Amino acid sequence: MQVHIFSHADTYDRHAGRLGARLYARVVEDAAAEDLPDGARVLDVGTGPGRIPRALKAKRPEWTVDGVDIEPKMIEYARGRDPENRVTFTVGDVAALPYPDASFDLIVSSISQHHWADVEGGVRDLRRVIRPGGQVWIYDARFALGKALRAAQKSFDSVRKERKSLLIARLTARA
Ligand SMILES: C[S@@+](CC[C@H](N)C(=O)[O-])C[C@H]1O[C@@H](n2cnc3c(N)ncnc32)[C@H](O)[C@@H]1O
Repeated sequence: MQVHIFSHADTYDRHAGRLGARLYARVVEDAAAEDLPDGARVLDVGTGPGRIPRALKAKRPEWTVDGVDIEPKMIEYARGRDPENRVTFTVGDVAALPYPDASFDLIVSSISQHHWADVEGGVRDLRRVIRPGGQVWIYDARFALGKALRAAQKSFDSVRKERKSLLIARLTARA
């Protein structure tokens, strides 16, 4: 199911660029600081206009960075902002990710989880595509992370929720 408010990718990007700048910087800094193995592959889920994966690829050019979003117009827009195709942007639902098992060393997601129609299915598929020892970080409104937290507790080795700001928390799930 497509989320129609996100079919106006340029309008979303303009507003989100201002409102989300601090969060994006935090996600990118947190991810870039990770000591991932050579040839690491990182995925941003519900990437929207793709600001996070583009910035991460600029900081860690040696990593392979992907972004996935259910909304085709977002992916079209994200590709347009990345003319050198440094990031691979793909249309897909978090609950049916278009990647083989154990594809990623780190998966991030910002302000997307509360839109997922099937949070349990999404968390299950994140578990499928993360590599052994990898982490999934879901940043979202603090009050909106309960379902994802319970779902992650069923399938990940360790799960914790940390407050990152007044409104935002991060769910960290380790495989
Ligand atoms: C509020 S935007 C956040 C975009 C970006 N992560 C950011 O922080 O600016 C939420 C995004 O999640 C995407 N989304 C919603 N449900 C999804 C799903 N089931 N699978 C993948 N992406 C989804 C929407 O299309 C939208 O682009």
